Amino acid sequence: MKVNIMKTVKIVGGVYWVGIKDWNRRIFDSLIPLPEGTSYNSYLVVGSEKSALIDTVNPGFEEELEEKINEIVNVGDIDYIVMNHAEPDHSGTIPYLLEKNEKVVLIATEKGADMAKAYYDVPDERIMIVKDGDVISLGGKTLMFIEAPWLHWPETMFTYLVEDKILFPCDFFGAHLAWGFYDDEVPDILTHAQRYFGEIMMPFSAMAKKALRKIENLEIDIIAPSHGPVYRNPERIIEAYKRWSSGETKEKVLIAYVSMWKANERMVRELAALLTAEGVDVKVYNLVNADIGEIAKDLVDSAVIVLAAPTVLGGAHPLAIYAAYLVKALRPPAKYAVIIGSHGWHGRSRDSLLEVLKDSKLELLGSLDVRARPREGDYEELRQLAQLITEKVRGGVE
Ligand code: FEO
Repeated sequence: MKVNIMKTVKIVGGVYWVGIKDWNRRIFDSLIPLPEGTSYNSYLVVGSEKSALIDTVNPGFEEELEEKINEIVNVGDIDYIVMNHAEPDHSGTIPYLLEKNEKVVLIATEKGADMAKAYYDVPDERIMIVKDGDVISLGGKTLMFIEAPWLHWPETMFTYLVEDKILFPCDFFGAHLAWGFYDDEVPDILTHAQRYFGEIMMPFSAMAKKALRKIENLEIDIIAPSHGPVYRNPERIIEAYKRWSSGETKEKVLIAYVSMWKANERMVRELAALLTAEGVDVKVYNLVNADIGEIAKDLVDSAVIVLAAPTVLGGAHPLAIYAAYLVKALRPPAKYAVIIGSHGWHGRSRDSLLEVLKDSKLELLGSLDVRARPREGDYEELRQLAQLITEKVRGGVE
């Protein structure tokens, strides 16, 4: 059952939220858990002459979107649909709207136009291609388009409403949350935003930095992303994005482990206790039941990543291989990795994890692989590793 309890919301005069709160969605991209659902924010901008819909919603919510638009203007009277991003959670309803409204024109970047044709069969004559800095006037409401590619698809752009100083950045600055309309209504909004950044934007940090520079001189009163709350206090999220995309890390270590017969768990517990005693922030995830969104969140600012896994079936436990692959794909700012393992006869966990990580920029700081269970000499090695990790997170050893 889809529950949609929110009506349209007037953000400022002539600008309305007509999106969907998807309380029931629990997975995104068949990969990312959504413990608190998500939202597909669609915005209607109504000028004195024309109107534009900025981004649409996930397929399955076509009629709800139409009902909401109709509360403000007849869906058949909309002049433009601005497609900031072609992914179906924001654009999957475009074919439905094009059918309901024969005159509406889709606005997209050049790459966006290509995507619109590939994904939604939008004919050329219904697409207006815009470039960086292009504007259209709706009558007292001017939309300016800002190319911001690879956030996180190649065609992405932002739309800026000049008169009201509202930035519509689609996924950028987003959060997967069904509840809370404005940022100040969500007490831990930056935690949600950091998780989203880790999952979606972290691999594209260089492009995020470019985009942030591009909007640096814009006056922004409101940021209206297409997932999660609308920021009426935009400075906090802009500052957080600057930090997260800068590669700056904290005195923080992320440990992801899997343990079959407790050897790895004992070593992880010991290492975590040693680091904690040094005042290092430690996040420990058991890969058997870890939420990968939480791991992504902590990868955003961890300085060292520790993977711990037994050798099984000739390599590292498959859950650790999966974690190593995710670490490589998400491209976190951490510079150092530590690998811990255990084995019964051949110790192959470390090498198989290094094979997965070989194209990442992580440098192996140290490793330890014990036979059967850790003994006193191994605990001594863990103490030395903890010391080395502590020095690294504090930037003391090059
Ligand atoms: Fe929310 Fe990349 O779609």
